[in-house]
Amino acid sequence: MPSISQRGIGMPASPIRKLVPLANKAKAKGVKVYHLNIGQPDIPTPEVAMEALKHIDRKVLEYSPSEGILTLREKLVKYYAKFNIIVGTDDIIVTTGGSEAVSFSFMACLDPGDEILIPEPAYANYMAFAISSGAVIKTIPSSINEGFALPPIERFEELITPRTKAVMICNPNNPTGYLYTRKEMEQIRDLVKKYDLFLFSDEVYREFCYTGAPYISALHLQGIENNVVLIDSVSKRYSECGIRIGAIITKNRQVRENVMKWCQARLSPPLIGQIIAEASLDTSEEYMLNVYTEYLERRNFLIDGLNRIPGCYSPIPMGAFYTVAKLPVDDSDAFCAWCLDRFEYEGQTIMMAPATGFYTTPGLGRNEVRMAYVLNKEDLGKALTVLAKALEAYPGRTE
Ligand SMILES: Cc1ncc(COP(=O)(O)O)c(C=O)c1O
Repeated sequence: MPSISQRGIGMPASPIRKLVPLANKAKAKGVKVYHLNIGQPDIPTPEVAMEALKHIDRKVLEYSPSEGILTLREKLVKYYAKFNIIVGTDDIIVTTGGSEAVSFSFMACLDPGDEILIPEPAYANYMAFAISSGAVIKTIPSSINEGFALPPIERFEELITPRTKAVMICNPNNPTGYLYTRKEMEQIRDLVKKYDLFLFSDEVYREFCYTGAPYISALHLQGIENNVVLIDSVSKRYSECGIRIGAIITKNRQVRENVMKWCQARLSPPLIGQIIAEASLDTSEEYMLNVYTEYLERRNFLIDGLNRIPGCYSPIPMGAFYTVAKLPVDDSDAFCAWCLDRFEYEGQTIMMAPATGFYTTPGLGRNEVRMAYVLNKEDLGKALTVLAKALEAYPGRTE
């Protein structure tokens, strides 16, 4: 039998999906599993998007341009302008989800051995895409005790080597829900400028900022316009993860030209997805406000509930729809598996993502889990009850 690639063997298993077989086993036994583990919103997709899907009337479902349909990019230009992100259609390349945007950005900007600095915990798939491109991720731990604020910028500087090529941030953050302040963004800008690095800024959760403070995009930062590569996606904001549409936005022409080589090799982003995404950009303010309010209420409900459970602690996430919470357990991987495999309360259990998968520093995240508040409040309430009962019964409880 031929051997498979070392690169594949080195790919981390998704911390979010690796417990799926245990969840399936629990469900097969008739146990109701509350999914706090995955960022799959339960909110209905906007009506305008569903209507566009229903009324697709084409003779040929053809390839679209490799950079994406022009009318979609034109609408995106207007959408970004609402956030004071001033770009032209040429600055936008449509991708197959934000996932492909990350992957192509790494491929186009980094050589094997080049290093990316990322605060951790971080979105786990960055590690997988870095391995695919041969780039090396170096993480700088942020701490739950500081609410996962940007670690001191000196910690980044200490890790700079001749191979350091980029900084990556996710803002608002998955998994922590942290939202970088203007001061933090300016510190990042100064670092990027000083060492002439790329700044990959994943802003797929920009619609979900709960602080009322002005949202700071990497593309607002002056003096590093050619360093910024913005990652975007319609998946979360319109609850349409399945249409697989994202984008790379950059003012850097050389980067765009390089990205386009990968775009042309994969021929086209999804045609149907682009038609739906284009229609989604007409989603009413009312829908967006309702969704926002719903997430805000869920956040308050979940965090309040978590902080009432003895031994649990969660900072208040300022954006996105996740939190990383500290639990009184010896090993969050073992605890999450145990909840699915060995525990049920009144026929129900919970699935959470052990936070270890969001860190690369060994040992970090062992008493933390990531939870997504993508369930309605009633289900969140039941999930919290199950969590409290599970913590009472878990043999590896620490406090
Ligand atoms: C931070 C972040 N970036 C990118 C993505 C990728 O999203 P998609 O490929 O669905 O656009 C996700 C999905 O969960 C995410 O959380």
